[in-house]
Amino acid sequence: MKPMGPIPPAFVSEEGMLLIGGCGAASLVDEAGDTPLFVYDMDIVAAQARHWRAAMPDALDLHYAIKANPYGPLLTRMTDLVDGFDIASGGELQMALDAGMAPDRISFAGPGKRDDELSAAIFAGVTINLESEGEGRRALAIAEKLGKTPRLAVRVNPDFELKGSGMRMGGGAKPFGVDAERAAGLARDIIAGGADWRGWHIFAGSQTLDPLAIIEAQAATIGLAARLSDAVGATPPLVNLGGGFGLAYFPGDVPLEISQIGEALDKALESRPDSLKESRFAMELGRWLVGESGVYLTRVIDVKTSQGETFVVVDGGLHHQLAASGNFGTVVRRNYPIAVANRFGAAPADDAVTVVGCLCTPIDRLGDRVALPPVQPGDLIAIFLAGAYGASASPAAFLGHPSPRELLLG
Ligand SMILES: Cc1ncc(COP(=O)(O)O)c(C=O)c1O
Repeated sequence: MKPMGPIPPAFVSEEGMLLIGGCGAASLVDEAGDTPLFVYDMDIVAAQARHWRAAMPDALDLHYAIKANPYGPLLTRMTDLVDGFDIASGGELQMALDAGMAPDRISFAGPGKRDDELSAAIFAGVTINLESEGEGRRALAIAEKLGKTPRLAVRVNPDFELKGSGMRMGGGAKPFGVDAERAAGLARDIIAGGADWRGWHIFAGSQTLDPLAIIEAQAATIGLAARLSDAVGATPPLVNLGGGFGLAYFPGDVPLEISQIGEALDKALESRPDSLKESRFAMELGRWLVGESGVYLTRVIDVKTSQGETFVVVDGGLHHQLAASGNFGTVVRRNYPIAVANRFGAAPADDAVTVVGCLCTPIDRLGDRVALPPVQPGDLIAIFLAGAYGASASPAAFLGHPSPRELLLG
């Protein structure tokens, strides 16, 4: 038997049925029409945003990285909960605008922006976080053709790492941003080229559960932003401090305690260097805001044995929920929290089972030798922490199965 990650406390049982947002999992599947289904509970997202605002200094804005979950109805609701969206493509630009986010509250990061994407972003008036000097030159040339003043910030590849992060996005040779020692030069060039310089974007990493590592990285980020601004000789309107808040997906993970991060940041911002006195600050979060809100529901098609091991075969799989199969940013495969939704809270059977998806590949494992109550065809399996990097971060076209359904509650 292998352990699984902790089920978020918001999920409870009523007469053996998993409740999501107060509704039974089986009736949600009926409402959506079929499995596989992602259900997102907006109340959980709103509670996370409230928790963040209560813990963080007032001077700090909250941005949502929509890559974590760009489901249209959820994005629309997010426009009221956060101060800005971070996007990573022309497609996400359209989603952000369709959701009703004001263009001057959208920032566009990501390497390899095509000319048509830069053009759409400049035309719409969103801030582009430049990833290279070449991208800066292209943005200025496109803006001139459009007769627009582009809003440009510089994404900095910091000269430090976010320790303990699941995905390192800064420190060392990276395809993201401009190395710290060249960032001030790029800012000076774009100011000289007539851009509206919006400041710095410094995103060191993602999925950290160590508050001290985040505190250390934020202090280093403020120090770096101050040094770079001194070198430019101008005050950055915005310093985006990145994010990195992680979720407890796996056995032994301890949920991130954010109040001490807020207290440390409050002090760090109070005593910030003069060159940043007039700047605003933002944090950019994806998974921490939306991850816990989501449950992936998939129906058991078959239960079979092979050489003494029981396999529970479901109608979903890694084509919808790649992360739970251990193939999205993890080195070692570990079990996400998983349960039988229609026997939620029941005692586990004596023998562990392996829950596999319907794809004909050995990597389509959603639960590896997990302890579940007895399972039969027709049962509903729930995989938790499915609100981030689920439907939009999985290879849905692989093997031609239907796309998952999605439902927003609350
Ligand atoms: C630039 C940028 N912003 C935000 C995020 C969101 O990270 P997370 O969902 O872990 O908060 C990422 C993740 O890769 C990113 O690259």
